[in-house]
Amino acid sequence: MNISILIYNLFHNRFSIQMLKLEIAASKKKTKLKDCTIVNAGKSNTISLGEKGILNGIRFFLLGDNNHIAIGDNALCRGSYQQPICINAGYGTSITIGDDVLIANNTEFHTTDYHGIIDTQTGEVLNPSNSIVIGNRCWIGLRAVVLKGTNLPDDTVVGACSVVNKEFPNSGTIIAGNPGREVRTGIKVGDLTNNKQ
Ligand SMILES: CC(C)(COP(=O)(O)OP(=O)(O)OC[C@H]1O[C@@H](n2cnc3c(N)ncnc32)[C@H](O)[C@@H]1OP(=O)(O)O)[C@@H](O)C(=O)NCCC(=O)NCCS
Repeated sequence: MNISILIYNLFHNRFSIQMLKLEIAASKKKTKLKDCTIVNAGKSNTISLGEKGILNGIRFFLLGDNNHIAIGDNALCRGSYQQPICINAGYGTSITIGDDVLIANNTEFHTTDYHGIIDTQTGEVLNPSNSIVIGNRCWIGLRAVVLKGTNLPDDTVVGACSVVNKEFPNSGTIIAGNPGREVRTGIKVGDLTNNKQ
């Protein structure tokens, strides 16, 4: 059991039971969790994890009811207790992350803005919560922020500190900047040994 779970146990026993269930389910699939936490503030919320992942430093946050977070097979999530990956689904949304993804430390995923923005003329909510989809073999660079309604096709790289908030149509691209835009096309992610000069 990791330190963050021990600390939280002191205050909230239900939390540790949910974390333990996730750890057991993950270990059956040869997925390793380290320094991960779950805050479940609602009902009928689910987290599902694929096989053979290495999931470090993820803070799962489920706000309200009927939220779903899924991470596919072979994920490499490189957060830590000090530099977490925040995966937050709220108000009946989902975050679906494909297979073979690489997620760097200090990245954030939010399907909700938490506060509504209301049109004063019509009373309409202008910023409804919306689900996030991340394709297979995507790489989310450090400190990137992925906002509601984001849909990244397979083989998308998101540059460090970028902010993405919409559906991108083309697979095999680098998206970078704030707001995130395509800066390169026709790419795929190599392994660590491909990064030499
Ligand atoms: C996305 C990234 C991999 C692209 O690297 P690259 O292929 O060498 O791309 P370049 O540096 O040639 O940049 C291409 C263009 O995108 C822009 N760009 C690249 N990364 C950017 C970023 N994070 N934010 C804003 N713009 C960026 C460049 O300024 C350049 O723009 P230009 O064509 O107008 O000059 C790299 O910039 C990056 O963000 N790396 C961080 C990786 C990371 O988080 N690793 C953690 C370990 S998991």
